[in-house]
Amino acid sequence: MTRLFEPIGCKVDLSTGAMGNATGSYQKRFCDLDGLYADPAAFEAMRATWGERIVYEVSEFRATEQSGDLIFGVTRMAPGKVGDEYFMTRGHIHNQADRPEIYYGQKGHGLMLMESPEGEVRILSVDAQTVCYVPPFWIHRSINVGEDDLVMLFCYRPIQGRTTRSSQNREACARAWSPTMEAGRKSTIRIGDRVTRS
Ligand SMILES: [Fe+2]
Repeated sequence: MTRLFEPIGCKVDLSTGAMGNATGSYQKRFCDLDGLYADPAAFEAMRATWGERIVYEVSEFRATEQSGDLIFGVTRMAPGKVGDEYFMTRGHIHNQADRPEIYYGQKGHGLMLMESPEGEVRILSVDAQTVCYVPPFWIHRSINVGEDDLVMLFCYRPIQGRTTRSSQNREACARAWSPTMEAGRKSTIRIGDRVTRS
């Protein structure tokens, strides 16, 4: 027998980045991101003031974990830099790597950094009212290159097992970082900008 679930609406508060009716949430504080940035000295210098402050947080809605369902939610990321690097998420590849994802910019100026299994890098801007499609198999990470909070909605199909940051992903993100920084310093990032990995 088909099991029905109640439709639900979730209001997004752009001032806080919180989503109403969320079924779960998590926060990443500055101290949780040790080892993420290329400049450990800059990270340590910021620890005293930033240690317990939230760099990014996620609230999400999950009705079920059934593969045909949808998971959606909102990410809010503070503005800031560690050395020359903008605040960013850890980045991940889906355990079921053939599962794509949609991001929709709500506020601020972000970049989505993606890398294919072959090592190709793509960067898309995720500004307000911009939809970003992360195709299957692309590692992805978001970066706040603005001076305000970055708020984005995301949506994907439930993934068996956890969505993780694999060692492959970590390495890939590190490799991809150099061109990303170069692109991030441009005054404008065009949709579809193609960046060659150095
Ligand atoms: Fe994802």
